[in-house]
Amino acid sequence: MPDSVTPRFSQRSQWAKDQAISFLMQQAVENRDVISLAAGLVDEASLPVAECRQSLDGIFSDDARGRLALQYGTTAGADALREQLRIHLARQEHCPVDELKVGAHQFVLTTGSQQLLALVADALFDPGDICLVAAPTYFVFLGVLNGVGARAIAIDTDEYGMKTDALAAELARLQAAGELPRVKLIYLVSYYENPSGVSLATERRREVVQIAKQWSQHQRLFVLEDAAYRELRYDGEERPSAWSFDNERNTVILAQTFSKSFSPGVRVGYGVLPRDLVGPVCDLKGNEDFGSANMNQHLLNAVLTSGRYVPHVDQVRAAYRSKRDAMLQALDREFAGIPGVKWLRPEGGLYVWFSVPEPIETGFASRMFQLAAKTHQVMYVPGELCYPGGSPRQHKNEMRLSFGVQNELGIAEGIRRLAAAVRERIAEL
Ligand SMILES: Cc1ncc(COP(=O)(O)O)c(C=O)c1O
Repeated sequence: MPDSVTPRFSQRSQWAKDQAISFLMQQAVENRDVISLAAGLVDEASLPVAECRQSLDGIFSDDARGRLALQYGTTAGADALREQLRIHLARQEHCPVDELKVGAHQFVLTTGSQQLLALVADALFDPGDICLVAAPTYFVFLGVLNGVGARAIAIDTDEYGMKTDALAAELARLQAAGELPRVKLIYLVSYYENPSGVSLATERRREVVQIAKQWSQHQRLFVLEDAAYRELRYDGEERPSAWSFDNERNTVILAQTFSKSFSPGVRVGYGVLPRDLVGPVCDLKGNEDFGSANMNQHLLNAVLTSGRYVPHVDQVRAAYRSKRDAMLQALDREFAGIPGVKWLRPEGGLYVWFSVPEPIETGFASRMFQLAAKTHQVMYVPGELCYPGGSPRQHKNEMRLSFGVQNELGIAEGIRRLAAAVRERIAEL
């Protein structure tokens, strides 16, 4: 075969090309001296080494239990953990387990919640179908939508999250354009949105579910509630999930994860699915892996049943609260006197959403990014990635700053460098 004969890859591999997440990961590896306020990694010091050691000791001190954990599991995940997750969810929802109105068979365990997001997209979207998302939203999910050829349409947000009047107006517009049959999903990061840190107001949670049901007369419009940061609340109101407003349990898909509250390395996430989605999601998952790591599910089950989980999450929350405060204080200190910059104070999660004055762009190819990453050695996530490409709602002057991975000194130094870069960029205008 001559070397000049090139392989022909699938349309889907083309759609999945050049995702920003891979570029960011590569930048982090190649620029070790750069302080990364970009990485969504979690706090190193609070990772649960002792909790995992004790739980694994418990599993492997019993041969039969150890063998069970080391064997293949099932596509939907270990039954014991799925039962535990009902208890876990009931605790979060402040209701008795038997009032959850979902059985353990509706819990599907995945490799992080990311896999659940991807499986739901695979189960719902044909190329050209539509997903409604907040502007801005989790850019990796935008990549997933690209990867299946779906169209993301951005809905306006404010400090209370996605605007429900704008959501209803967009659905009416799509109906008038004859596109309603293509609209399959509303995607919401309901708690401390990645990237904006905003939590959807309680009344709006109810309204989004109502709107989805209203527009489900000819075809079900699902809501994917991505609650990745639910357990990272530092202050402010504890809000009910959007899922809790879905009385029939047929509209909201709830995606949760132990990555942020416990360990991303364990890669245990899960979906609580409407009954008729369990089959399609498990069929697709069967083709991918016929089950996520069984041992990790046994580990997490041991952690949950041992009572070690809740105190650990209390510690994690305290650590992040201090780091959030360290970032806000550093921003106040370093940006005092720099005109036109602003940022949002998050009540939870891992991110501060930051804007520079309008003519300044922050994208990978921008002078601002170059000044920050190369000259001043600090990295952020360009805000424009968090909007669907070409969206009229896309702003170009924003940044996502994470306080997850740096310690308090790193945060202070990172913000000092960022302020120097922004000052230099403003001076060039
Ligand atoms: C909003 C959101 N959803 C889902 C995920 C996926 O996380 P994991 O696959 O580790 O559960 C992340 C990770 O950063 C996230 O920020």
